Amino acid sequence: MRLFIKNIKLLHNIEISTSIRKVSGKEMAILPCIENAWLVVEDGRIHSFGEMAAMPETDADEIIDATGKMVLPAWCDSHTHIVFAAPRDGEFVDRIKGLSYEEVARRGGGILNSARRLNEMDEAELYDQSLARLHKVMAQGTGAIEIKSGYGLCLEGELKMLRVIRKLKENAGIPIKASFLAAHAYPVEYKHDKEGYIKLIIEKILPIVAGEGLADYMDVFCEQGFFEVPETERILEAGWKYGLKPKIHANQLHHSGGVEVGVKYKALSVDHLECVGEAEIESLKGSNTMPVLLPGAAFFLGMHYQPARKIIDAGLPVCLATDYNPGSCPSGNVPLLLSIACTQLRMTPEEAVNAVTINGAAAMELEHEMGTIKVGKRANLILTKKIPSLAYIPYDYGNNNVERLIINC
Ligand code: NIG
Ligand code: FE
Repeated sequence: MRLFIKNIKLLHNIEISTSIRKVSGKEMAILPCIENAWLVVEDGRIHSFGEMAAMPETDADEIIDATGKMVLPAWCDSHTHIVFAAPRDGEFVDRIKGLSYEEVARRGGGILNSARRLNEMDEAELYDQSLARLHKVMAQGTGAIEIKSGYGLCLEGELKMLRVIRKLKENAGIPIKASFLAAHAYPVEYKHDKEGYIKLIIEKILPIVAGEGLADYMDVFCEQGFFEVPETERILEAGWKYGLKPKIHANQLHHSGGVEVGVKYKALSVDHLECVGEAEIESLKGSNTMPVLLPGAAFFLGMHYQPARKIIDAGLPVCLATDYNPGSCPSGNVPLLLSIACTQLRMTPEEAVNAVTINGAAAMELEHEMGTIKVGKRANLILTKKIPSLAYIPYDYGNNNVERLIINC
């Protein structure tokens, strides 16, 4: 199969004769592009690209005339919980009326509410619902995604979620990474036996998950009242014994020590970061741990936003992800995420696009496959509608300017 795209108004985030793993600090503002370009896809890979002035003769199975339209690498959304059973719109109203996210959780809502609903639902129904969500975000340009367990909170429920993710991997047509997040909350029956639940995770569930190859990464919700630093350390150590790299929830609600523990345990990423200051930024310097900001959750919970500018000014990379989940961010809409990042975190459109393409790929160890327009990489691409500029994507907030997600062509 050969696809030829011509008259591309701007071909964004190209990479020639380099091997970029991620972009950091000032580099984040640079998004190399070609004006008036062509691109050839062959058997799902980027075959070649260049300027229209030097367009090659080519025969193709499909030709797209992209006059007025742009092409970008597909979004790489490195943090989601899209496998869930039911929305939590009732809690949304409770929060509007004054309850905090933590109060909702303490009353047995929140993650425990999602766990109850998930454990009641059969696997086929859970798969169908999750696939529908995946198709929706793909129509908004997502071309690689990470999905977490963590609404099972028991052996059967966690395995059910991870099997659903495995089936999505097999059928969705885009790269998917799975993270094992049994340490998301303490289930009701372990409310007074936290040690018992940690043992269940480490001694029973984890060996089965690892044995069946159901997870790529180990996740923990490291937070006051959830899993504190000592528990997080034990769980990450256990994960490492099975070769599962950490990707953790850190510093969402408090300065919980999550960033430091992530760095100490060589986490691939530390995600959320609403509550970070100088100390956390300092600890990230010199590490390979990617700071992943989830401003959609801060938006939906009415919290203060992540200090993206301080992190970038410290010379660090920033990755953006949606956190799509029924509680703190019921949206996997990356164009909307870009709007929030630009307006609230004061990231430029170029920084925001880098954050959710090459840096998103890096936060899933897909940087050799995804995240830039490079010969040989997987051709998961966004073809936009006719738009005047790159900035128009976050500017036109709430609207979808993705005309087509190109995959498997
Ligand atoms: O990333 N904070 C922990 N986990 C999710 C939310 C889970 C939920 O509320 O269902 C998050 O925000
Ligand atoms: Fe999350």
